[in-house]
Amino acid sequence: MTSRIIGTGSCLPETVVTNDYLSTIMDTSDEWISSRTGIRQRHLVKEETTASLSIEAGRRALDDAGVKPQELDMIIVGTLTGDYVTPSTACEVQAGLGAVNAVCFDINAACSGFVFGLHTVNAYIKSGMCKTALVIGAETLSKIMDWSDRSTCVLFGDGAGAAVIRADETTGILAYDQGSDGERGLHLECKNRTNNNPLVQTGMEPGYTHMDGQEVYKFAVTAVPASIHKVLEEAGLSPDDIDLYVLHQANIRIIQSVAKRLKVSMDKFPISLDHCGNISAGSVPILLDEVNKKGMLKKGDKIMMSGFGGGLTWGSCLIEW
Ligand code: ACO
Repeated sequence: MTSRIIGTGSCLPETVVTNDYLSTIMDTSDEWISSRTGIRQRHLVKEETTASLSIEAGRRALDDAGVKPQELDMIIVGTLTGDYVTPSTACEVQAGLGAVNAVCFDINAACSGFVFGLHTVNAYIKSGMCKTALVIGAETLSKIMDWSDRSTCVLFGDGAGAAVIRADETTGILAYDQGSDGERGLHLECKNRTNNNPLVQTGMEPGYTHMDGQEVYKFAVTAVPASIHKVLEEAGLSPDDIDLYVLHQANIRIIQSVAKRLKVSMDKFPISLDHCGNISAGSVPILLDEVNKKGMLKKGDKIMMSGFGGGLTWGSCLIEW
């Protein structure tokens, strides 16, 4: 038994913020941002929330799959920017969709959240505990950015992507890899509330995102090709056998470096970061939905998804479409 993606959906906030707009509110430029990252614009929330984007992405994925919300027996949302500490975003999605039969919980694995969600559902499906699931990657990262720190806030955007997964006896997930390195976790961090009780009152508000960009870059360009090679080896395939690489959209230079290390043309690496920025857990499923809706995925195609980022975490998943 394996797990097959039978529908995709996504939802981006209505408001588009260009690099040129950012250069009117901080000391930056389209030239600096686009030449170093490939990002030209991002969508930022105004009225939308992590849950509202997730619900809409989920609804679109269910429509694409032809599945009713009541058929779902699991909803997992990969996110680090839920609207509440509790309830989870997945429980909010359940309520919004009327998916009354689903077990719902969130996964915090930052930019690997969607891929970790897929692997988790796959484990449930293999054990017989689940047949039909909705996996979402969703973020409103703009609320955890320090908008006076130009080195981080220009990189990120908001949005949600979703996939409907169903147990399948023939094909779907072929091989996978995932890992974590907590020792290097503080290279990319955002502090939650600090201790606050009758004995200790720090009076600290939750923090904003800080990143050592060069350390994260070094991590990504070594961990991602290694993870992809591991998956290919398990599947008995070579990098050329893959039809499309759907990678986390952190930075064009990271993606170019991964392509070079795999000796695969950039033509096989679709890009959404130019118009979406980095949406952490949202990046992979939003891009997957884009290529699906453009008709770029054909039955039998082999697609390698790879997420990597905060934690540090990484995960790669090879599927047959
Ligand atoms: N506009 C203009 N100048 C800027 C900006 C900006 N938005 N941000 C920083 N600068 C300046 C800095 O102040 C610095 O100036 P100085 O030399 O006078 O001190 C100069 O540009 C260089 O700053 P660095 O931080 O060293 O910039 P770097 O060349 O490392 O590029 C970048 C930053 C693009 C983030 C790079 O580190 C990188 O590619 N990192 C990869 C990691 C990444 O993209 N992470 C995204 C999130 S993590 C993830 O999703 C996995």
